Amino acid sequence: MKVLLINGSPNEKGSTYTALCEVEKELNKAGIETEIFHIGKEPIRGCTACGHCSKGSYRCIYDDTVNVALDKAETADGFVFGSPVYYAAPTGQITSFLDRFFQAGISYQYKPGAAVVCCRRGGSTAAFEQLNKYFTISNMPVVSSQYWNMVHGHDAEEVKQDLEGLQIMRTLGKNMAWLLKCIEAGKKAGISLPEKEE
Ligand SMILES: Cc1cc2nc3c(=O)[nH]c(=O)nc-3n(C[C@H](O)[C@H](O)[C@H](O)COP(=O)(O)O)c2cc1C
Repeated sequence: MKVLLINGSPNEKGSTYTALCEVEKELNKAGIETEIFHIGKEPIRGCTACGHCSKGSYRCIYDDTVNVALDKAETADGFVFGSPVYYAAPTGQITSFLDRFFQAGISYQYKPGAAVVCCRRGGSTAAFEQLNKYFTISNMPVVSSQYWNMVHGHDAEEVKQDLEGLQIMRTLGKNMAWLLKCIEAGKKAGISLPEKEE
């Protein structure tokens, strides 16, 4: 089993990465493979509503980091999307990325998803809510923790001092591992995916 953790920050090894690493450690302890995928610093264009992806390719016409992530999503069993908070919202970069990722792909359906946000002080719940909406329109079970999935700090060093935040990340990792194992056990017991209506 594998979880794809997407780092939506322009900082490859900043606060978001630090939070994702804490989730990753618990997943690895539970025997689950992981990959942290950084969306990079290059501009990511938004969806242009061209309709290309809905014609059966399940890939975006703009062949960039979004399609790379969609390829990786095929073999992933769960997802964690992380973003710093910019003006009380996820970053523009991750929003453009996720709009196209969710519009083009389908391989995330029925796989658990979790959002992680990090901020210096405020706006975390608004950003968290926005990210969770991608899961709840996509037939994805949402994984939670003992508190909303957020860490606080201006940078990685400050996040390491947010002990409660790091514990929330560890709990999230444990909960994701538990749910993945439940789904796997369900499959082995013959429980099939829910039938979809047209
Ligand atoms: C453009 C911009 C906007 C920001 N807006 C907020 C904000 O609304 N609330 C907040 O608490 N921190 C805000 N921050 C701070 C970042 O969320 C914080 O430094 C975070 O830890 C950075 O994560 P990263 O290292 O993964 O990029 C902002 C930072 C930038 C660059």
